[in-house]
Amino acid sequence: MSDKIKITIDGVVVEVEPGTTVLNAARQIGGNIVPPAMCYYSKLEESGGKCRTCLVKVSKGSEKDPRPMPKLVASCRTTVMDGMEVQNITSPEVIEARKGVVEMLLINHPLDCPICDQAGECHLQDLGFEHGAAQTRYEFKRRTFERVDIGDKIQLHMNRCILCYRCVFTANQITDNRVHGVLGRGDASEIGTYIQQAVDNDFSGNVIDVCPVGALTDKTFRFKNRVWFTKPVDAHRDCPTCSGNVTLWYKGEEVIRVTARKDQYGEVENFICNTCRFDKKATSDWEIEGPSKVRHTSVISSNHYDTMQPLPVIQQKPALIIANQEQFQKTSKQ
Ligand code: SF4
Ligand code: FES
Repeated sequence: MSDKIKITIDGVVVEVEPGTTVLNAARQIGGNIVPPAMCYYSKLEESGGKCRTCLVKVSKGSEKDPRPMPKLVASCRTTVMDGMEVQNITSPEVIEARKGVVEMLLINHPLDCPICDQAGECHLQDLGFEHGAAQTRYEFKRRTFERVDIGDKIQLHMNRCILCYRCVFTANQITDNRVHGVLGRGDASEIGTYIQQAVDNDFSGNVIDVCPVGALTDKTFRFKNRVWFTKPVDAHRDCPTCSGNVTLWYKGEEVIRVTARKDQYGEVENFICNTCRFDKKATSDWEIEGPSKVRHTSVISSNHYDTMQPLPVIQQKPALIIANQEQFQKTSKQ
């Protein structure tokens, strides 16, 4: 007898290990039915539950108790039950709620994408494009913060922070001494170092890679180029401190940035050290492997902004197509 748990997401059945979250079950299916995640990060313990972008509808709780859950739930924090049925892109209610979440995240986040280094690889920019309203209903002044200098390698731009806590968990889990965290509470919460310490641990640069928006950026890459004009290339070196597996970002023949490699959900595969990230910017420092596989949500990968690829099983079910008319219209615009 299999110990696996059967769950249906947007009409697609998948069997997963007990204790798996709905989000990770959806990731095992893949494609467009995977809910977006701005704070959950599979490599970071305790991440998730902060941003609500991963909301889904549980239309059947389980085989034993088929009652639907009364409210939408965060898929990154909800574990699967046998026989559970979940709706993501097939639920107009979920799409509407996600629009609301994006609108709320954008209340304070500045719309400075034209000058932000994260533009083109910003998860909030992608979400805003897919679910955002054309205009804000917010009439008050945006929340702004004094600039805080956290060192010569990392730029903190607090106005853009969405308080996902990923950088805090990263510093907690992969560095020896975390010197930054979330100070204050409520709308006064901010990322900071309290006594103006520089964030300078050997692995501190990884907070740049985990930040889903442009709140933490690489000072050595700042304003050097738009990401869609660069050429990402996989490379490695024999590094005594980290795996040495990186992506080099080329502008012509010059390496203008080094980052960790990321998977299809924009999550770092292996955290890298600051020497690889900030000090090894000559091609001769690296063994080149070949062009990087670009994430489907990256602007570097063409088609993201005008196409959608629903799984065949969804396209074959008229009920799902009707339930999710708006999403399917995107497909027909191709
Ligand atoms: S600085 Fe970035 S990673 Fe850190 S909490 Fe803010 S948005 Fe999240
Ligand atoms: S990804 Fe689930 S709440 Fe943020």
